[in-house]
Amino acid sequence: MKNTGLVTGASSGIGKELARIHAEKGNDLVIVARREDELNELKQELESRCNVEVYVIAKDLTAPDACQEIFDEVSAAGIEVDYLFNNAGFGGRGKFWEQKLEAQTGMIDLNVQALVKLTYLFLPGMIARKKGRVLHTSSTAAFMPGPLQAVYFASKAFVNSFSKAVAYELEGTGVTMTALCPGAVKTEFAETAGFSDNHSMFASGKTPRYTAEKGYAAMENGKLEVITEFGLKVMIKAGLPLTPDRIGMGQIAKMQSE
Ligand SMILES: NC(=O)c1ccc[n+]([C@@H]2O[C@H](COP(=O)([O-])OP(=O)(O)OC[C@H]3O[C@@H](n4cnc5c(N)ncnc54)[C@H](OP(=O)(O)O)[C@@H]3O)[C@@H](O)[C@H]2O)c1
Repeated sequence: MKNTGLVTGASSGIGKELARIHAEKGNDLVIVARREDELNELKQELESRCNVEVYVIAKDLTAPDACQEIFDEVSAAGIEVDYLFNNAGFGGRGKFWEQKLEAQTGMIDLNVQALVKLTYLFLPGMIARKKGRVLHTSSTAAFMPGPLQAVYFASKAFVNSFSKAVAYELEGTGVTMTALCPGAVKTEFAETAGFSDNHSMFASGKTPRYTAEKGYAAMENGKLEVITEFGLKVMIKAGLPLTPDRIGMGQIAKMQSE
């Protein structure tokens, strides 16, 4: 049976690969981002390659009514969303007070508010149908404070906390919720966040396909969270709790500033 998936941030990176994986399994899609041309290109690719239907919504998710408008448009088109991929997000490097306020609040609007709103809107339908999957693209940034990306790291801490708590509330409903926590991934993210092309963290990063596959598999298995690299998992779960805050933050700040 087909499961329609809605993917935010499907115009590039991890979201594009999540959409591809979902379509390759024979499922229809609603794809959302601001760049309509990229979305239409992906629609063409997936409809011809995977024999599925792809519905495009070009929308800035930071606009106050964007999520409600998406929900209304999808409902009016008679589409039931079975899988929700809250993936769109961005970061920004630099000292908190030296960055533009709009960029910082925009990060909260997208990484946090849009994710909460879309979940709130689409979850009741899934619960009523007793089936559904929600995947939140979080980050390993969720597990620690992040000097020089303070708002971004805090936004991902919110995503993990929210995702796990709602996942617990969902037990027994037939709906699951998973937080995907990648380390560095080679996407447009680095440039958007103000990192140079050859920054060491991203030069050695994983591919968006690798990351999306890890997230998709964990979501299908109903996992609470997945940290996509074994070394990072050991560091986060075993090393980090024993590391004094200032030393941990010093390492994060060094990684951001290189
Ligand atoms: N790359 C990494 O190293 C990394 C690591 C951990 C977690 N993540 C997380 O992974 C997720 C996906 O990022 P990515 O690495 O794939 O980066 P990306 O290639 O820059 O993709 C970001 C996506 O979000 C969309 N987006 C940005 N602002 C938007 C807005 N205002 N409204 C609607 N859509 C918007 C972009 O599309 P448009 O520009 O067309 O709107 C794009 O499709 C993010 O949540 C990010 O925090 C990334």
